[in-house]
Amino acid sequence: MRKGMKLLLAACGVGAAAYAVSRMKGPKEPDAVWNFYAPAYDKFMELDRALYEEMYTRIRRTIAGKRTLELCTGTGLIAKHVASAAQEMIATDFAENMLAQARKGGCPANLRFQWADATALSFEDDSFDAVLISNALHVIPDPARALAEARRVLRPGGVLIAPNFVHDEGDLQTGVTAKLLTAAGIVFATAWDADGYVAFLEKNGWAVRRHETLRQASIPLVYAECVDAAE
Ligand SMILES: C[S@@+](CC[C@H](N)C(=O)[O-])C[C@H]1O[C@@H](n2cnc3c(N)ncnc32)[C@H](O)[C@@H]1O
Repeated sequence: MRKGMKLLLAACGVGAAAYAVSRMKGPKEPDAVWNFYAPAYDKFMELDRALYEEMYTRIRRTIAGKRTLELCTGTGLIAKHVASAAQEMIATDFAENMLAQARKGGCPANLRFQWADATALSFEDDSFDAVLISNALHVIPDPARALAEARRVLRPGGVLIAPNFVHDEGDLQTGVTAKLLTAAGIVFATAWDADGYVAFLEKNGWAVRRHETLRQASIPLVYAECVDAAE
């Protein structure tokens, strides 16, 4: 078994036990699991460092000079690596502990973090040139609503960048990882395969102008960039 996989198994095991104990204290809000894991999130994502570095390069290229909104930023891992390429970046999340982690340490001067529910944004229509939502649509119970909000706040001609983990049916590591994450409280509201994810974006009114499955990760990820299909 690869070292990365062993670390992933260990991290999920510890997380599952700790989260199970925390759940005994009563019912939880939708952001509870993210608030719980916020302090450990960056360490956990170290396992997918190669994948994220590849994404930073692609995202920086696409948002260069653009007013950019990130939904579901988590600890701001991506925002902190890409914001300096943008004209300005607002990175949002609904889990306060994630935002607290994001605000720690240095960050580019043109980046700010702000609370927002991706399914009910308070931003004006047509107010951003690019919207980024990474590794999040699969954990949102109503991902179509988040996509509709992204479309509303994007100006005509704007770009949606939506990299998302997908399930590869035949792959043992993907299956085991998904089960462990579920046991640890991170429930995949939707489990698309790569084709299903692209079809989901198209069904929701996006023209997917570029997509590629990146596999240097614990779970394969479809890197997708889209524009409004109606334009
Ligand atoms: C798996 S993390 C991804 C974080 C980051 N985008 C990344 O790629 O590392 C999912 C994030 O989505 C956030 N989230 C889930 N549902 C949300 C919603 N409805 N509105 C805003 N944030 C949400 C969680 O709080 C969490 O920080």
